[in-house]
Amino acid sequence: VDTIALAQIFMTAFRKATVQRGAFTLAGHYYTSAATFQREIQRIFYNHWLCVGRSEQILESGDYFLAQIAEDSLIVLRDPEGVARAFFNVCRHRGTRLCTASQGHFVETIQCPYHAWTYSLQGELRSTRPLQQAGFAANDYPLYACALHEWEGLLWINLAPNPAPFTQTFAPLLSRFSPWQLATRQLGHRVDYEVSANWKLIFQNYSESYHASSEHSRLTPYALPSDRPDLRTGAFLGKCLNVNRQANHLSPTYQPARPPLVTQDENRQQVYYYSLFPTMLLSLHSDYVVTHRLYPLGAGRTQVVCEWLFSPEAIAQADFDPSDAIEQWEATNRRNWQVCELTQQGIGHAHTSGSCTHRDGLLVAFNQEYLRVMGA
Ligand code: FES
Repeated sequence: VDTIALAQIFMTAFRKATVQRGAFTLAGHYYTSAATFQREIQRIFYNHWLCVGRSEQILESGDYFLAQIAEDSLIVLRDPEGVARAFFNVCRHRGTRLCTASQGHFVETIQCPYHAWTYSLQGELRSTRPLQQAGFAANDYPLYACALHEWEGLLWINLAPNPAPFTQTFAPLLSRFSPWQLATRQLGHRVDYEVSANWKLIFQNYSESYHASSEHSRLTPYALPSDRPDLRTGAFLGKCLNVNRQANHLSPTYQPARPPLVTQDENRQQVYYYSLFPTMLLSLHSDYVVTHRLYPLGAGRTQVVCEWLFSPEAIAQADFDPSDAIEQWEATNRRNWQVCELTQQGIGHAHTSGSCTHRDGLLVAFNQEYLRVMGA
């Protein structure tokens, strides 16, 4: 029953007729051009709030992990006052990479492996060894900091020199996910994928429902169209799917595999899918949450980090078994990556752009936001 219940809530739905007649997909070069990818780095990845991890990864003072954004490595850490911070992984002396281990724990300071300059966990230059000449001021050489904001147990960074405040940019979402209490959820499983496809193909694949009737045909009989789309334009897009109990012969007292995360019955009846431009996908089930973080590696390559979050109480139970949720999304992920890779292979010299249907409302909305940001 659990497998069926999860299968039935996979399908997505759109309200019709929001796509103008004659709408087209992005031209092929947007997915293949190295020059376009470099422009995306400057206009998107170095200029937007990006989720790079979860607060539970850096619970204690000195805990850290590295995040890679294009060619920049960032140290994301917890300082002694409990503040999460992010610094470019660069020594102020000669620009040497400070840290190479992908995660770990700093004991009070960060020390450069070259000439042993030492920094506090707040980024201040503490020691240069007895080297400096008159007039040298350590205060002039703190680590390069980048903006970081914690929200819903997620860590967001922005590499822009003076980014708009996170709370301003994310104003439409700030309380939207409160019923799921994401900050209290814990990691139950993680899978890293490397997909040979442009990051936008993955984003668009998540945003459309057109492919579900063919690509995920096994799930189709369980779909029940919802009339509650959500956030249809701009940087944040959402949609939901009703649980179709009747079609699956589920009793009115049906319960998901784990105790529900949400208290409102309405939220137990649906699954919510949100895309947060440019690299975050958030899927909210009644009893668990799945996140996808996209890390573009090149025009045709993307790392995808998929994480399954559950309540700590469920994880602590001796019989905790997340296999239904993991298998459902693993199968979905791998099938989606496959068609994205096939699309990447097909887009190229001959292909210019394709048409959009009335079911592609969110895909078109993504394209519009992308072109706006790119100044195209
Ligand atoms: S390069 Fe880091 S101390 Fe010299």
